[in-house]
Amino acid sequence: METVVSGIRSTGKLHLGNYYGAIQNFVKMQHEYNCFFFIADWHSLTTHPTPSDLHSNVKQVLVEYLAAGLDPEKSTLYVQSDVPETTELYLYLNMNAYVGELERSTSFKDKIRAQPDNVNAGLLTYPVLMAADIILHRATKVPVGKDQEQHLEMSRTFANRFNRLYNHDYFPEPYAFNFSDNLVRIPGLDGKGKMGKSEGEGNAVYLSDSPEIIRKKVMKAVTDSGPTAENQEKPVEIQNLFDLLKVVSTPDTYEHFDNLYNTCQIRYGDLKKQLAEDMIIATTPIRNRINDISQDTSYLRQVARHGAIKARESASKTIREVREIIGFRSF
Ligand code: TYM
Repeated sequence: METVVSGIRSTGKLHLGNYYGAIQNFVKMQHEYNCFFFIADWHSLTTHPTPSDLHSNVKQVLVEYLAAGLDPEKSTLYVQSDVPETTELYLYLNMNAYVGELERSTSFKDKIRAQPDNVNAGLLTYPVLMAADIILHRATKVPVGKDQEQHLEMSRTFANRFNRLYNHDYFPEPYAFNFSDNLVRIPGLDGKGKMGKSEGEGNAVYLSDSPEIIRKKVMKAVTDSGPTAENQEKPVEIQNLFDLLKVVSTPDTYEHFDNLYNTCQIRYGDLKKQLAEDMIIATTPIRNRINDISQDTSYLRQVARHGAIKARESASKTIREVREIIGFRSF
């Protein structure tokens, strides 16, 4: 059975971009593959969270994984920092990752623009840690959104380079995966780019948002003054709303508003109302489970412990074999 690995950075609440870009695939994959899903708390250190934020964010992601439908009996759910074997593989991979190629990564360039006062080495080697997460379990499929495509390409480079250096066909190549043919990019509500936590207040709809908050955010989404000619191309902020409609609403609803747009009869207020209601329908069951699960500390502890044991079993086997391949042998 093929192995699947994926993770989400522990920077707090999860949004619809995380859900439709990644978690929905996790939930489906757990029935078909040998799955490892983790909470990337080491990755979150690049932005220096306080100790109490770090802890509460890890808990939040664990709760939301479970609320979204991940089953700890079916897949291995774990916290990255509970599996120290990850850091050992990260060290080995760092020896064969070149500074030039890391500096050229799009995410590194974005980060140094976003946090010019904190260009730490962890940011530069972020894709190496990510490759370690993945190949630690010798995974071949990695469910992620479109923004992670380049990181997956780098993971393949590092896996192949290790194999070549030691002349050993050990790590398989990992590929980004989505059940539909294409990787997903969920837009935000600000009329610009993707939905994301760091893109400003109001841009992201969180799984834990109440119906009132969702309505408020969606009603504030950026629009234009409306189409002036039939079948005209939609400007980006309008296309974004239609893209969101496509993921949360029925095909009939999408078509209804698309026809209204194409015949210049659209009223954006109606579209937004419908979009907000369909987002509420999609998130309400998850939000209810978030509230229930977050109360159950002993269940969360049990899930994290059980996951750490299973993940370390797989990880320690890889590290044993990798040490042997590299030439670490006991006397
Ligand atoms: P992160 O935490 O930024 O995002 C988690 C997952 O959600 C997806 N995603 C989106 N998909 C579509 N549209 C959006 N607007 C959107 N926003 C977020 C991301 O593509 C991702 O799949 N580096 C990773 C975490 C990570 C990881 C790994 C992933 C660490 N190690 C190993 C896979 C395998 C990250 O920061 O994702």
